[in-house]
Amino acid sequence: MRAIQFNQYGGPEVLEWAEAPEPHATANTVRISVRAASLNAIDWKIRRGLMRGQGPDTFPAFLGFDAAGVVNEVGQGVTGFEVGDEVFGLGHPTHAEYAVLKSFVNKPAEVSWSEAAAAGVAGETSVRALNLLGVTRGTTVVIDGAAGGVGAVAVQVAVARGATVIATASERNHEYLASLGATPVQYGDGVTDRIRQVAPGGVDAVLDVVGKTPMEELVSLVADPQQVVSIANFSAPEHGARVTGGGGDATAALREIADLLADGRLKIEVASYPMQEATEAHRLLEQGHVRGKLVLIP
Ligand SMILES: NC(=O)c1ccc[n+]([C@@H]2O[C@H](COP(=O)([O-])OP(=O)(O)OC[C@H]3O[C@@H](n4cnc5c(N)ncnc54)[C@H](OP(=O)(O)O)[C@@H]3O)[C@@H](O)[C@H]2O)c1
Repeated sequence: MRAIQFNQYGGPEVLEWAEAPEPHATANTVRISVRAASLNAIDWKIRRGLMRGQGPDTFPAFLGFDAAGVVNEVGQGVTGFEVGDEVFGLGHPTHAEYAVLKSFVNKPAEVSWSEAAAAGVAGETSVRALNLLGVTRGTTVVIDGAAGGVGAVAVQVAVARGATVIATASERNHEYLASLGATPVQYGDGVTDRIRQVAPGGVDAVLDVVGKTPMEELVSLVADPQQVVSIANFSAPEHGARVTGGGGDATAALREIADLLADGRLKIEVASYPMQEATEAHRLLEQGHVRGKLVLIP
């Protein structure tokens, strides 16, 4: 089997699509033949060596945290899935021809492999963070950094729940965010004033996706700093805000995402690259301005 791998930390050029040991399903997991796997920010951070201590510290190192594909091994204890089922979900490593998924759900038939792969980490993270914030019908939520992988999914999940969504991006993505049902706002200096202008009734919750707006500014938008949850700024607790990096019921989150994909309320803009072109996809993602998701195809 081939897998994306690297033998030293560095730029995208360290990546290789080369032979690797085949993984096998263990208890409560399935192995899939990967049809598509998405690229997440953590992949380039691991490749750069920024996740040492939390990520792999031996070589070759492998990447990928979500994928969609066809089940070809079913681990002990798994019920309701069999060889041949089309699924998507979370596991590691997934940038490979075969991957083991730990959390997975059926892929809706009408959803493409690329879109399903893109929905894994972005979907689970969005649902986890919005649940922490209690986002539901009637909530006014700010999503800061809304045009990328996690942000664009979080906007659509919040809209589907009946929330009023204010979403930040650069000007070129405003039409896109409006098409997803959000009120777009330019990020950067003065962002909180611009948010207040479009939310005269106040803001109930803030999801900080990209971690670039100063935390004290985000906290100033809500009555209780705990109503700011960040997935990218680990200094948030110093300001009374919360950080999430995991936990929650991943399978339940993926089910919510699968339902939204199936009925068309969640659409993910994807650009696909063959695994052999992972270097180019990494280069683009690392620049930090991708709209939607990048996906790799074996
Ligand atoms: N804690 C967790 O569980 C968890 C899970 C998943 C991801 N993450 C982290 O969350 C972060 C976002 O992930 P992602 O997949 O959404 O990344 P991404 O797809 O690379 O994000 C790209 C987006 O960021 C926007 N952006 C760039 N600078 C911005 C700024 N100053 N203010 C607001 N938006 C800005 C860009 O919009 P423009 O093009 O309009 O500039 C672009 O659409 C990463 O740091 C990732 O590691 C954490």
